[in-house]
Amino acid sequence: MNRRDLIKTCSLMAVGSMFSKGFFDSILASEKETYKAYQKALLVKEDLTPFTVKDISPNTALLFYYPYRSTPCYIINTGEEVKPTKVKLSNGKEYEFKGGIGQKKSIVAYSAICPHQWSYPSKDFSLINYYPSNEKSQTTGKSGVIQCCAHISVFDPKSGGQVLEGPAEVPLACIELIEEEGKIYATGVLGINQFEEFFDMYKSDLIDQYGGLEKAKEQLDKTVVMEVGKYVKEQIKC
Ligand code: FES
Repeated sequence: MNRRDLIKTCSLMAVGSMFSKGFFDSILASEKETYKAYQKALLVKEDLTPFTVKDISPNTALLFYYPYRSTPCYIINTGEEVKPTKVKLSNGKEYEFKGGIGQKKSIVAYSAICPHQWSYPSKDFSLINYYPSNEKSQTTGKSGVIQCCAHISVFDPKSGGQVLEGPAEVPLACIELIEEEGKIYATGVLGINQFEEFFDMYKSDLIDQYGGLEKAKEQLDKTVVMEVGKYVKEQIKC
């Protein structure tokens, strides 16, 4: 973690502690819609050929960007069927999570921006990571989950990204995937997405990295799926 990132993480914690638990989350949940269609994007491999369900092994998470070129997501093969379920929000609203895709219906995708205070996988490090079923978190003892070590929020990829524990009150936003003739497309975002908050929080970093905020906000029609470790130097697990 470099100095600037460390300062940012500490600032986030300090700001968060000034408000009651769930303050931001309940505002977000009441004001935002729970589904938004974005530009349809084809998932491709690094050689730009289509990414298929066979390209992700069970108990694996890979990284891609959607719907914007700067907003990271995880595609996960949970290794077991992920059934449709209703996802409940703290304001009483609910939405329908459609379950997994692929032959075993085990493949799902989520925004990798933590809905608590927007920790995300950067090139330097990631505090929000997938723990496959054969790897237990040291702090929560959980496996088969996405856990954010900024303040220990745990999300269940098998139930629409619902919060299992921790300060986050909003589930991880789910990336809608569809399979057409063996190709996989991302088509929209289900749940309370945090993209505008992310752009505000990391504005200067995004301008540095992409050469302007408008560039960072460009929507993709093709997105490369890559190994997390190839993009993120350090996956910080806890
Ligand atoms: S940013 Fe607080 S738990 Fe993820």
